[in-house]
Amino acid sequence: MAHQTVVSSSKLTFFFMFVFSLCFATANTLNRGSSLSVKNAHSDLLTSPDKSFTCGFYGVPGRNAYWFSIWFTNSKDQTVVWMANRDRPVGLESRVSLRRDGSMVLTNHVDVTTIIWETGTGSTGVDRAQLLNSGNLVLKDPNGTILWRSFDFPTDTLLPNQPFTKSSTLVSNLGRGNFGAGYFNFYFDNDNVLKLMYNGPDISSLYWPDLDYSVFQNGRNAYNSSRIAVLDELGSFSSSDELQFSAIDMGSRVKRRLTLDYDGNLRLYSLNSSTGLWVITWQAMAAPCKVHGICGRNGICVYTPAPRCSCPPGYEVADASNLNLGCKPKFKRTCSKSQEEKFVQIPQVNFYGFDLNFSVAISIDDCRQLCLGDCRCEAFSYRLNGEGWCYTKSALFNGYKSPDFVGSIYLRMPVSLSVHTSKPQYSNASIPCKTNGPAMYGTTGKRVRWVYLYSFAFAVGAVEFLFIVSGWWLLFRRHGSAVTPVEDGYRVISSQFRRFRFNELKSATKNFQEELGRGASGSVYKGVLEDERVVAVKKLADIHQGEDVFWAEVSTIGKINHMNLVRIWGFCSEDEHRLLVSEFVENGSLDKHLFTSNLLGWKERYKVALGIAKGLAYLHHECLEWVIHCDVKPENILLDSDFEPKIADFGLAKLTQRDRLISMFSQIRGTKGYMAPEWAMNLRITAKVDVYSYGVLILEIVKGIRLTSWLLEDIEEEQEAELTKFVREAKRKIQRGEELLIEDVADPRLEGQFSRNQAAKMVKIGIACVEEDRSKRPTMDSVVKSLLECEDESYIHSSH
Ligand SMILES: *[C@@H]1O[C@H](CO)[C@@H](O)[C@H](O)[C@H]1NC(C)=O
Repeated sequence: MAHQTVVSSSKLTFFFMFVFSLCFATANTLNRGSSLSVKNAHSDLLTSPDKSFTCGFYGVPGRNAYWFSIWFTNSKDQTVVWMANRDRPVGLESRVSLRRDGSMVLTNHVDVTTIIWETGTGSTGVDRAQLLNSGNLVLKDPNGTILWRSFDFPTDTLLPNQPFTKSSTLVSNLGRGNFGAGYFNFYFDNDNVLKLMYNGPDISSLYWPDLDYSVFQNGRNAYNSSRIAVLDELGSFSSSDELQFSAIDMGSRVKRRLTLDYDGNLRLYSLNSSTGLWVITWQAMAAPCKVHGICGRNGICVYTPAPRCSCPPGYEVADASNLNLGCKPKFKRTCSKSQEEKFVQIPQVNFYGFDLNFSVAISIDDCRQLCLGDCRCEAFSYRLNGEGWCYTKSALFNGYKSPDFVGSIYLRMPVSLSVHTSKPQYSNASIPCKTNGPAMYGTTGKRVRWVYLYSFAFAVGAVEFLFIVSGWWLLFRRHGSAVTPVEDGYRVISSQFRRFRFNELKSATKNFQEELGRGASGSVYKGVLEDERVVAVKKLADIHQGEDVFWAEVSTIGKINHMNLVRIWGFCSEDEHRLLVSEFVENGSLDKHLFTSNLLGWKERYKVALGIAKGLAYLHHECLEWVIHCDVKPENILLDSDFEPKIADFGLAKLTQRDRLISMFSQIRGTKGYMAPEWAMNLRITAKVDVYSYGVLILEIVKGIRLTSWLLEDIEEEQEAELTKFVREAKRKIQRGEELLIEDVADPRLEGQFSRNQAAKMVKIGIACVEEDRSKRPTMDSVVKSLLECEDESYIHSSH
């Protein structure tokens, strides 16, 4: 466009601005020839007819920087949902004008007018700009036809009814309050599947959906190329790749947004209209350290328990003044034969990607030799999964530490370098979270050093997560401002998890009338809350912790949300009363369907086995804080109306104290029940105790009888022998290569109506899970994976 045109039309609009800004302040329409200016940022606003959205110049106080934006009028921090110039903030002299030719133009008028952004709608007949109730800024012609809309150019947020198409990408912000385009992308990939990708200056790396599974196993479909997705008013998202999820508070009249946050997580939020704060109602990544790219080259993401970045031994922070540029080696990498090299092992740490080579079934020495023989190899990863998986690595990215990663990374470095591996490995080099930082955009508005990305990502990701969802903030407030628990107690912590009054629960359960069950940790009663939700109220027995500890523990449980785990709605802690309020699950516990005349069909059995495995895998591998259940048994598995299993009583182990479980164990004299042998051996309890219990359970699901009977009143030696005998027999046959006749194993009541493949797989998994040596048991993640391999068997083979 010729330069002169720009200047002259800007003079014109200058005149019109005076006229129109008087008439149209806080209107929802901007007419042709008028403009909004930064100078009048407070009054030059467009507001949607229902007032929920505002469009205008969004500025950060104390900084001469403005963005032409749309934001939620009523959220506390006026959350921005769209920006025209995210990477190029403008100064006080700027304005956005709807020019006479129909184009909307953002100009930066200092000495020479420069166009910062424009809609490209010149000579299309655009007559006015309007902000709609949906949060969509549209340009219309005199007939009302929409010729341009902001919905087609999302930044980091998708609003209800905003179509997400093959040409849309959500790009995260760089940091909190730093609106520049960051490094995380949400988009339809070439295979038609919605993905999350880290797209940084050094590398690009996909991290969602889970790369260990196929498209199909992740519940997606790669064959529908229409590439369209939408979040509806009720909070339900659905996509042509069959990704589907819903807000936990599904329903109308809630303001929602789906945002790709600057910590790389995609989250669905609901606005709490009374506080103006956002509540997370769904998120893509349960484990924040599994987001790729967050800790830079050589960095490792660790939970402390909030996620943060750290450097491995032999490495140091790359840039001390900027803290978060990843880590650099303290040695020079050479590949000369004269330099002697060693490998430093860091257990439970993995780096994703950049594999030079992957070998199965080789010894660790061979793996080491493979790495030494390749100049490019910086480290190797060796997995102790019984097969010896060896990966040699040419670069170290996407590092994370997880107690459930059964393997180590071995870093290659010169022998002469002394490293301390015995001390807390990360503390010296760790990268602290920062809660605020220097101005985060350059004057040119270019991308800023990606440093800020993760300090902010972590500080705020963690803060949002812990404070909003878990309600820990209440705890802090209590300490900070001496508000009594009673005053605080009835505040809704999130839309889901709250504190209840004892009287409220007493009347909900009609004075604890209908007992649903009774277990070691207490009795459970059915109740109906005032909002007509049916709930299960558990009176916890023998809780001796102080209120604060109890509070912290239950809020940990309260933030756990998975379809195969019973949802905890809240708790009560008053005087000596300690109660938990959870969802009521219709069909009762698994034992009532497995060991009685209520015959459970095969399809349901398989679904139950898979669901329990998913729930446990979530507890072990995905939660912010790993949870070991410690009491997996059919009585603790509830079935909903679709026979989808839900695990109850998780997270109670910490509350009721391990000692009690151990003493329970000694009371059961010689019968192991569902409890792993290490309970008796005074070993540190790991997630593998749940794997053991799961093994017993899955075998019982196939056989339809109890293999252990310590729950029964009189303990018979024979009953105990059942499990041992069965496992010994089966193993012997498998070792000898004999067919394990699945017909003989499966529940005879099924009368042959079951899938041989699935049953055989389940028996195999069960046997592996009840290994005495816990290191030989699989992890729950791998159990889920192998069950999914035969998920789609048709299960009726009536004749052959
Ligand atoms: C593809 O996805 C769209 C949107 O979800 C849906 O309407 C359409 O029916 C799908 N097409 C096929 C062939 O399944």
